[in-house]
Amino acid sequence: MDKLRITGGRPLEGTVRISGAKNAALPVMAATLLTPGLHTLRNVPRLRDTRTFARVLETLGARIAFEGDRMTIDTHGVNAVEAPYELVKTMRASIYVLGPLLARFGQSRVSLPGGCAWGPRPVNLHLAGLQAMGAKLEIEHGYIVGRGVKLKGVRFGFDVVSVGATVQLLMAAVLAEGTTVLENVALEPDVTALGEVLVACGARIEGLGSPRLTIRGVGSLRPVDATIIPDRIEAATFAAAAAMTGGTVRLEGVIPDHFEASLRKLEEAGCRIRRAADAAEVSGPRRPKAVEVVTQPFPGFPTDMQAQMIAVCAVASGSSLIEDTIYLDRFTHVPELARLGASIELQGNVAVVKGVERLSGAQVMATDLRASASLVIAALAAEGQSVIDRIYHLDRGYEALENKLAALGARVERVN
Ligand code: UD1
Repeated sequence: MDKLRITGGRPLEGTVRISGAKNAALPVMAATLLTPGLHTLRNVPRLRDTRTFARVLETLGARIAFEGDRMTIDTHGVNAVEAPYELVKTMRASIYVLGPLLARFGQSRVSLPGGCAWGPRPVNLHLAGLQAMGAKLEIEHGYIVGRGVKLKGVRFGFDVVSVGATVQLLMAAVLAEGTTVLENVALEPDVTALGEVLVACGARIEGLGSPRLTIRGVGSLRPVDATIIPDRIEAATFAAAAAMTGGTVRLEGVIPDHFEASLRKLEEAGCRIRRAADAAEVSGPRRPKAVEVVTQPFPGFPTDMQAQMIAVCAVASGSSLIEDTIYLDRFTHVPELARLGASIELQGNVAVVKGVERLSGAQVMATDLRASASLVIAALAAEGQSVIDRIYHLDRGYEALENKLAALGARVERVN
C-alpha cells in the first residue's frame, strides 16, 4: 500500500496549476447517460474517482477513452441499468446514475451506497424527490429498483440543502414530462456548472445560481461538450498549505469566487491574498491567527475544507473553534493530527483547537479524502519526517498531489 513520506518545515513557494473539479466532473459524467451520443469532456482530473465512475458507465454499456484531461464517452451502446454494489460501495457518487437511468430507460437497479467513515450519509432526499416525480422505487436486496417509470414534472422542496439530491433531481427533471420546480436547492458551483452543461445540451432550466430551479422537460438532448470547472477544494487546500508553511503560492486556472469563503477565512488568519480573474496568490503569515469557522452550504465555508482548516489552526496563536454543521461526525483526522502534536478537543461537532508553536513529524494514517489532505499539510509544516499511510484516499480526489507539492519545494515522496 502506498505511503507518503514528508520532511516538513519548508515554506511552499511557487505556482501550481489547479486541476478540474472531481465533484463537478462526476455529475457531468452521469449526465451523459441522458442521451445516446458521443460526449466530450475536457479538464477532467485523472483521479481514482473519475476512473471508478468511468467503470460504472462502462458497466452500463458506455465506451470510454481518457487521454490526458480529455474524456470521450460513447453512450450509444448503453443497454444495462445496473450499478453493482462492488462499484457503488467504493464511491457514493455512483448513485448519480439513478436519475438519468430512470429518465432515459424508466428502469434502474442501483446499489444503495451505505454509510461512510464519518456517518450514515442518507439518500432519502434523492429517493423522495424521484418518487414525487412518479418513480415507483423498491429497495430489493440492497438495490434501488425502478421498473416502468415515467417521470413527471413536480414541485419539490428540499428540507435540507443537498448537493447530491439537487444534482440527482436536476438530471431527472430535464427529460421528465412537464415542469419541475425545485426549491431550496444547493448553490455549489458544481450544481450550477452541471445546469449550464445541460442547458448547452438543449435542456430548459431557469434560476441557475438561485435557490429555486424551474425545469421544463424536453424530449431529447444533444451530446455533452463541456469543460469541467476548476477544483475549488484543491485550490483552497493549496492555499491552506501556503498559510500553514508561511510560504507564497500562486494558484493558476482557478475561479477565486468559488472558494472565497476559504480565502476570507485565511485572510482572517493573517494571510495576504491577491485575487485575479483566473488566479489567486496566497502568502502565509509567520504564524497564523486563531479563527472561528462554521461549515455551511455554498457560499459558506465548505465542509470539504474543515479538516484542512483545523490543521492550519493547529499551529495558530490562540484557540480556534471549528464547527461542522453538514457532517457532525467528520473528525477522524483529529486523533491523527494529535499524533503530530496538535492540541484539539472535540465537543460534539465542534473542534476546539489550541494552537501550538510547532508540530512534530510522526507516522499517521489517512482515513478519508479531506482528512488525508489535512495530514499532508500538517506534515509539511511539522518539524522532521512524517509518514502518511493509506494514501489511496488522497488518490481519490487530488491529482498528482506529490508532484505538485514537490514543484513548490516540498520534500515529499511516495513509497510503498
Ligand atoms: C456534501 C457537501 C459537498 C461535499 C460532499 C463531500 C454540502 C451542502 N454538501 O455533499 O459540498 O463535496 O459532502 O464531502 O456541504 N442529506 C440528507 N438526505 C439526503 C442527502 C443529504 O439528509 O438524501 C443531508 C446529509 O446528511 C448532509 C446534508 O444533507 O447533512 C448535505 O448533504 P449533501 O450535500 O447531499 O452531501 P453530499 O452530496 O455528500
